[in-house]
Amino acid sequence: MKNVRIGIVGLGTVGSGVVRILKEQQALIAQQTGLSFEIVKAIIANPDRERASYLKDVALGTDITQLLQDESIDIIVEVMGSVAAAKDLIEQALAAHKNVVTANKDLIAQYGQELAELAMANNVALRYEASVAGGIPILQILRTAYKADQVHTIAGILNGTTNFILTQMDEQGLTYDQALKAAKEKGFAESDPTNDVDGFDAAYKLAILTKMAFGLSVPQSAIDITGIRELAIDDVKAARAAGYELKLIGLSDLTDEGLRLAVAPMVVHENQPIAQIRNEHNAVLVKSQNIGTALYVGPGAGQLPTGNSVVADLIHVGQTITSNGDVYPFALKVATTQPKPVSGNRSYWVLVATDDPDSLVDNIKLSVAGAVVSNQLTIRGFDPHQAWTSLEVTAPTLVAQPHFTTTMQRLADVKAIYPVLEA
Ligand code: HSE
Repeated sequence: MKNVRIGIVGLGTVGSGVVRILKEQQALIAQQTGLSFEIVKAIIANPDRERASYLKDVALGTDITQLLQDESIDIIVEVMGSVAAAKDLIEQALAAHKNVVTANKDLIAQYGQELAELAMANNVALRYEASVAGGIPILQILRTAYKADQVHTIAGILNGTTNFILTQMDEQGLTYDQALKAAKEKGFAESDPTNDVDGFDAAYKLAILTKMAFGLSVPQSAIDITGIRELAIDDVKAARAAGYELKLIGLSDLTDEGLRLAVAPMVVHENQPIAQIRNEHNAVLVKSQNIGTALYVGPGAGQLPTGNSVVADLIHVGQTITSNGDVYPFALKVATTQPKPVSGNRSYWVLVATDDPDSLVDNIKLSVAGAVVSNQLTIRGFDPHQAWTSLEVTAPTLVAQPHFTTTMQRLADVKAIYPVLEA
């Protein structure tokens, strides 16, 4: 087992998530990589603050130079936020030949190029996966899968807080202030949530994605930025009534005139997958020459998703500096489960043509022991002259779809039966 020693600066939402994952997944990480990550010290601003139990045995300090001067530390994790102090710290760490992993989008968007050059000059790594779209490994995807592809559009929901606010206002009827307060309590919002609601946070992430996808460093002044502060719930509902969802979108679009860069509320047709992104989830749509259109979706904020992105960077750096690269063609996970025949409750979405859905429901219940039949919905669309009734049937005893299908077909004019994917 090779030991990788790390120092962490900041134990807020992300920093504590990193510690938690390194502890809880220690065996999994060791087993796949042959690496053991040792947290030498965490530097914090407020030593008196009450901390979660999994942080209790982490050595704490308040002086960053303790990390910088400790020659045994391989990687510094900067998760304290701010720009000036973090830049100073990272510059010193890189100059001291320490690898750096950061989640600081404000910093990377503004100074990523010069910090990357400093890292290369000192032959150390600088990684920042957690700076964009929380738990979605979008930078790693752009860095690897698009090497032979030409990206022409990046469009995304890049801020979890604003998407959470819009969703909560729309679905739960919360006021803007209530929804923002909830986002802060859940640890999604920035320490200064102005950056979230006025679009700056999304603009920083768009700048990093633009650099990754197009190789172009763009100043914030090149991005046309509008936030959600002026949005009223009526705007959201009016868009919905017309078949659209109102979303804060970051757009980097290659046109004949050049790159069009914007962060602004935009409407997305409800049929588009990106329209379905709710709460703190983010989505990054990438259009490119070879792959075409691909959408990457996941949590854009939160302790464990964002912490996971930091830890993925730590593992990458740890493997590089110890030459413990992945040597197996499959991830070497020890199986903790075995294949099992499908059994138990299965739900099916059943489309039937019937004038009498109530008696059909009674018949299903009689024929399928213990069946639970959901709300019925009459829909049109497969055939303009035909109204179809859809039922969701949970069938606890008839588990194999062929058997269930046969039973159902005996009952009614069944158009289609689909297992329901719990997603
Ligand atoms: N405040 C950010 C957001 C956190 O809401 O998306 C993750 O970068």
